[in-house]
Amino acid sequence: MLSVEGLSKSFGNQHILKDINLQLNDGETTVILGPSGSGKSTLLRCLNLLETPEQGTLTIEGDRLQFGGKLSDAQVRTMRQHSAMVFQQFNLFPNYTALQNVALAPTLNGKLSKSESQQLARDLLVKVGLEHRIDSYPDLLSGGQQQRVAIARALAVSPDYLLFDEPTSALDPELEAEVIRVLIDLARENRSLVVVTHNMAFAQKVANKIIFLDEGRVAFDGPAGDFFASDQPRIRQFLNIFDVVSSAS
Ligand SMILES: Nc1ncnc2c1ncn2[C@@H]1O[C@H](COP(=O)(O)OP(=O)(O)OP(=O)(O)O)[C@@H](O)[C@H]1O
Ligand SMILES: [Mg+2]
Repeated sequence: MLSVEGLSKSFGNQHILKDINLQLNDGETTVILGPSGSGKSTLLRCLNLLETPEQGTLTIEGDRLQFGGKLSDAQVRTMRQHSAMVFQQFNLFPNYTALQNVALAPTLNGKLSKSESQQLARDLLVKVGLEHRIDSYPDLLSGGQQQRVAIARALAVSPDYLLFDEPTSALDPELEAEVIRVLIDLARENRSLVVVTHNMAFAQKVANKIIFLDEGRVAFDGPAGDFFASDQPRIRQFLNIFDVVSSAS
């Protein structure tokens, strides 16, 4: 389980996340929606400790961090091991092949030997449909292929929670579809996914839970069906931008 209590994050005097409370269940897909600037990326980055909140607690699989005081390196490392992030811009190492990109972390963290890491990387690249691209360098791969390498790389550290920040928004529709297929497969395997996306078809099809952020606050937290059927004006206004009609009749 992943839970957040009373989490606040500011940049300078800008209060970005305001008293965020949430609870995510293992094996579920949570989609975070909200207008630009509402704090979606900041929230995701707080879950992975790429940002440090000023207040609140974060608990993942029983490990708990209380923000506001000094955190030890060991505490941060332990918490980070619970999640892995996939970014909008893939962020692969350009001078490493697909295989090397995926094998790097499990080798570095000492959990697997070099040959075990390479076998795992091969298996994961097959899983994301890239068996024919194992030795390619990122610049010879399409955006969709690069993102699938990035997903394999995130899977390689066996995280409890996979965090995706707009994983398809840099991709053309056709390439978006191949990445979404991988995400759907992961959701069907009951991985714990937290996905920031504007892809409403994905959210409607796959999300167990929707969190709607508005101006740094949780404005909705509940089952996806309830979100898309909601008649709250703020939610309808947001959904209208995507031409999502109410699923309530
Ligand atoms: N490192 C930073 N330093 C200062 N301000 C930041 C920083 N990161 C984000 N912000 C500000 O925090 C607010 C929320 O940003 P965030 O990127 O979390 O929004 P978002 O919901 O992900 O938006 P988008 O849909 O455009 O990606 C914005 O006003 C942004 O300018
Ligand atoms: Mg963002």
